[in-house]
Amino acid sequence: MQHILIATRNSHKTKEIRQMLDGHFIVEDLNARDHWPEIEETADTFAGNAALKALGISVLYDGIVLADDSGLEVDSLGGEPGVWSARYAGENATDADNRALLLKRLDGKPSSGRFRCSMVLAQAGVELATFDGAVEGTVINDERGAGGFGYDPLFLPDGFFNTFAELPSETKNQLSHRARALEQAVRFLGQL
Ligand code: IMP
Repeated sequence: MQHILIATRNSHKTKEIRQMLDGHFIVEDLNARDHWPEIEETADTFAGNAALKALGISVLYDGIVLADDSGLEVDSLGGEPGVWSARYAGENATDADNRALLLKRLDGKPSSGRFRCSMVLAQAGVELATFDGAVEGTVINDERGAGGFGYDPLFLPDGFFNTFAELPSETKNQLSHRARALEQAVRFLGQL
């Protein structure tokens, strides 16, 4: 089976990608590679940051690297937190800190919004392809559910009455921004 390295230390992302690729790829991430450098996310787009991570790691790895850069856009906040999703409440913020700041900014008013994901595939310092996925929904003004990660307890995908943190992971993995980007990446890898 083909190996793929996910350029992340976020084990939640790896878990979702591994579930979605189950049986097709052997999925690894950077968690067992402590000595590898942290890639700075200095771009101002998801695709730009995904490219930085994919290219930066691909020069260290003999094989295909997949980077995921993703986040939540809240319409009433002009698209915040966007590319700052992981660092919304500060450089070392936890998911709970970021949600607390978002709830404060929402000030009790739900808003339309979406999760976005850009994925970049790279090998030996060469970018192979970029794919984008998004899922539209409502960002609610209280936390619901204990599953998932990040902003999942605050996000109701369109057509559902449960948040991503309340829905089974199989359901999230069928309709998420990450699933939509990954579907295209898998199709591309199948053609290589
Ligand atoms: P990245 O590692 O810079 O791509 O940061 C992604 C951040 O966006 C995460 O730390 C989460 O806060 C948020 N995020 C991305 N995808 C999801 C998701 O599927 N559910 C909840 N939050 C997410």
